[in-house]
Amino acid sequence: MADSIISRGQGIAPAETQSSIFLQIGIVQTALLRVLDSPLSRCTELDYRSYVEKGTQSIVGRLLNASQDTLFPLDRLSLGRGLLLDYTGDHDNKTVKSALDALRRSIDLQPENQYSGLWYFTYPNWSYLDGMYSYASFYSLYTTFFNPTVTNKTTDDIIYQLDLLWAHCFDNSTGLLFHGYDASKTAVWANPATGASPVVWDRALGWYFMALVDWLEINGFECLSTQWEHVHARFVAIANGIVKAADPVSGAWWQALNFPEREGNYIESSGSAMFVYGLYKGIRLGYLRSSDQRYKNTADKAYAYLTNTFVVKNQNGTLDWNGTVSVCSLNSSATYEYYVTQPLLFNSVHGSASFVLASLEHEIQVF
Ligand SMILES: *[C@@H]1O[C@H](CO)[C@@H](O)[C@H](O)[C@H]1NC(C)=O
Ligand SMILES: *[C@@H]1O[C@H](CO)[C@@H](O)[C@H](O)[C@H]1NC(C)=O
Ligand SMILES: *[C@@H]1O[C@H](CO)[C@@H](O)[C@H](O)[C@H]1NC(C)=O
Ligand SMILES: *[C@@H]1O[C@H](CO)[C@@H](O)[C@H](O)[C@H]1NC(C)=O
Ligand SMILES: *[C@@H]1O[C@H](CO)[C@@H](O)[C@H](O)[C@H]1NC(C)=O
Ligand SMILES: *[C@@H]1O[C@H](CO)[C@@H](O)[C@H](O)[C@H]1NC(C)=O
Ligand SMILES: *[C@@H]1O[C@H](CO)[C@@H](O)[C@H](O)[C@H]1NC(C)=O
Ligand SMILES: *[C@@H]1O[C@H](CO)[C@@H](O)[C@H](O)[C@H]1NC(C)=O
Repeated sequence: MADSIISRGQGIAPAETQSSIFLQIGIVQTALLRVLDSPLSRCTELDYRSYVEKGTQSIVGRLLNASQDTLFPLDRLSLGRGLLLDYTGDHDNKTVKSALDALRRSIDLQPENQYSGLWYFTYPNWSYLDGMYSYASFYSLYTTFFNPTVTNKTTDDIIYQLDLLWAHCFDNSTGLLFHGYDASKTAVWANPATGASPVVWDRALGWYFMALVDWLEINGFECLSTQWEHVHARFVAIANGIVKAADPVSGAWWQALNFPEREGNYIESSGSAMFVYGLYKGIRLGYLRSSDQRYKNTADKAYAYLTNTFVVKNQNGTLDWNGTVSVCSLNSSATYEYYVTQPLLFNSVHGSASFVLASLEHEIQVF
């Protein structure tokens, strides 16, 4: 699938780009770099590293002004991994270093709501789960690499943002988190008490779940700190909610998780791949108890369903990926009907790259 993503030229910015390109490049680069870091790197034939560099080159020029960076969604921070790789390969590259610094500064310049919650994008006072995937990893990696004396502050900042979303978006009925919240509670969809939007969207929760497991890994050396334990407890709580929410028939997850089996709802492929990745990774790293068979059984069943249902094998040997919903925005009615009527995309990297991540964890468990 990774080779197929490359054969389609995905993860490189076209000349005319929209702000959704940042996360697309970021998730492709993350998937390719994870393959390179794994035992499976011995089996790759294409030059993933050069491909990641090419993706970075296609976008780096747009990142150099920190205040302008804040006009893009928090997803921009997902480009940090590829930049960091370039930087470690060539310490003298000033362009790469300025992009990294501008991204880091842009976190401090990001507009905040009344609780100091980072806006996800241009919408005043709205915070989404989605942004945490890019934010938590980048902030943590940047600090570890360039600024290790302020690790505590960075950790506190990250946990504050994660907790704020938890406090506002927690759904009592599923134990999972709604897509986002409006701190000013004026959006048409805002819950009058919490500001939360009404749908637990599988992909938004998928980004947040991956943010937690990746943060736990990056900060794993601190594994006895109370901060680490706190994030770990949250990760386990979501994992338990995800296990409960799995569709008993397919084993995978609904687009609108808090309306299972409702008319129009369907099994969505990107969020499902993200959950499989998080569950397998949690087991491999010991964050989920391996004596508890529910985690592995759930991941195994869902993984088999994903490969049988959404992977399309072509005669030329490439693989396509089906069943990924396009962008679902809170700049909408954000109703159940909205979420289940957004178009499905073929070969969306939000799904295919997440499937690469899930597959990598699956293969490592098998070996
Ligand atoms: C620095 O990195 C950028 C982005 O990857 C690249 O376009 C540029 O050629 C590099 N500069 C040098 C001197 O290597
Ligand atoms: C950076 O972007 C801001 C906001 O768009 C602009 O006001 C400023 O002039 C830019 N700075 C530079 C050095 O280009
Ligand atoms: C956003 O929140 C601030 C308070 O932090 C408030 O003054 C402002 O009116 C809010 N904006 C909107 C569009 O609700
Ligand atoms: C960092 O946090 C840990 C645990 O929370 C604490 O023991 C330590 O003193 C803190 N270090 C600094 C420099 O604040
Ligand atoms: C969940 O339940 C708690 C305690 O019963 C309540 O305070 C909170 O407002 C509820 N949250 C939502 C989103 O309904
Ligand atoms: C492989 O086949 C698929 C499906 O026919 C096609 O879309 C794709 O362009 C082909 N890729 C290559 C590299 O030939
Ligand atoms: C992709 O999924 C759609 C919707 O389920 C289905 O109609 C279509 O046949 C699938 N495409 C392929 C190539 O399997
Ligand atoms: C938000 O939605 C409105 C109405 O559909 C649209 O005009 C506007 O361009 C959207 N904002 C963004 C930033 O996409």
